[in-house]
Amino acid sequence: MLHGKRVLLIISGGIAAYKSLELIRIMKKTGLTVRCILTKGGAEFVTPLAVSSLSENKVYKDLFSLTDEAEMGHIRLSRETDLIVIAPASADLLAKMAQGIADDLASTTLLATNKPVMAVPAMNVRMWENAATQENLNTLHKRGIKIIGPDEGDMACGEFGPGRMVEPEEISAEIIKYFGDNSPLAGKKALVTSGPTQEPIDPVRFISNRSSGKQGHAIAAALARQGAITKLVSGPTNQPDPAGVEVEHIETAQEMLNACQAALPVDIAVCAAAVSDWHINEEAKTKIKKTNDTPPTLRMATNPDILATLSSAGKNRPTLVIGFAAETDNIVANAKNKRDKKGCDWLLANDVSAESGTFGGSKNTIHFINDSGIEDWPEMTKKEVAETLSEKIIRCFNEK
Ligand code: C5P
Repeated sequence: MLHGKRVLLIISGGIAAYKSLELIRIMKKTGLTVRCILTKGGAEFVTPLAVSSLSENKVYKDLFSLTDEAEMGHIRLSRETDLIVIAPASADLLAKMAQGIADDLASTTLLATNKPVMAVPAMNVRMWENAATQENLNTLHKRGIKIIGPDEGDMACGEFGPGRMVEPEEISAEIIKYFGDNSPLAGKKALVTSGPTQEPIDPVRFISNRSSGKQGHAIAAALARQGAITKLVSGPTNQPDPAGVEVEHIETAQEMLNACQAALPVDIAVCAAAVSDWHINEEAKTKIKKTNDTPPTLRMATNPDILATLSSAGKNRPTLVIGFAAETDNIVANAKNKRDKKGCDWLLANDVSAESGTFGGSKNTIHFINDSGIEDWPEMTKKEVAETLSEKIIRCFNEK
């Protein structure tokens, strides 16, 4: 979505530099061209090879070593970009910027630039709180430099407080915001559920199902790529959090419902989670002991239906509510009934019989049901299903 835009990333010295590798990966995914300057301190924490492999560009380190024609000095580096991002921005580099010191490639480029600068500080809490750092930040802020973070939390040095570098997803969201988003779902809010839920029996046991979360996570990622502000509410899975998506991890159906209701209002809701139909009526507070007597009887109660609840959310109802129907037989007939019963707009029915390999697998065959009838989609990967669905969502909003 940001094809044609260029970012110059300056990585200065700090343990948070490892997160900058992830930032480069996320920036590249948005279509940005990324060039990197690695300071001497930065190179103590991440290697030039890692930075150049991820950015798919040469890494710039030295002020005075231009070895070939194609190489760029500080002036070209500072001009041939649309935005400079410093992550992590060390206390030392911030101090140099505030004073106008130019004694290495990073500080000289920053002094020479005529482009906007975002600084993402990361340092020990005492260094952050030091009056010198605070005065420097004040100066930089007054000069129009955007300071992002820092976050508060446990630090690599064992202390606690403000100083942690903001997470790469959040930095990339700021970059996207800066460039102004003209992607198809820009300004739309999407909510996606994914994965199984776990319903506790006692503190160590639970009931759950085999959902992998692959389909739901792929949908959240696809909607975010199309520019939607996307929240994913996920049960326990092995899937990594998708880039650019706010993820809330929950365990039970009730927690999933609470998280979904708290996310309203949204424009799009996609319920791809395999929510447990029941929970244990009274969860044991201590581990149920195995005795030689008869095994325990588990009494269950019905879980809330998240899809049905969102579909009947009155003035908070998402404009487009989409459900999945995991069926093992009579797929289309059952799915049509389900759509009516749940009150959702679109239903994607899929075969999850053991032979289909859908649960946990990477492929899916969808029967798409809406007011106009049924479409049988060919077998696709779950990622392709996610992309096809998000294109359909874009068309639907374009027609509204
Ligand atoms: O009723 P069934 O589980 O077959 O319906 C499947 C659809 O309903 C899926 O979209 C699933 O995410 C959603 N669902 C839900 N809350 C439940 C049960 C299912 O959101 N308690």
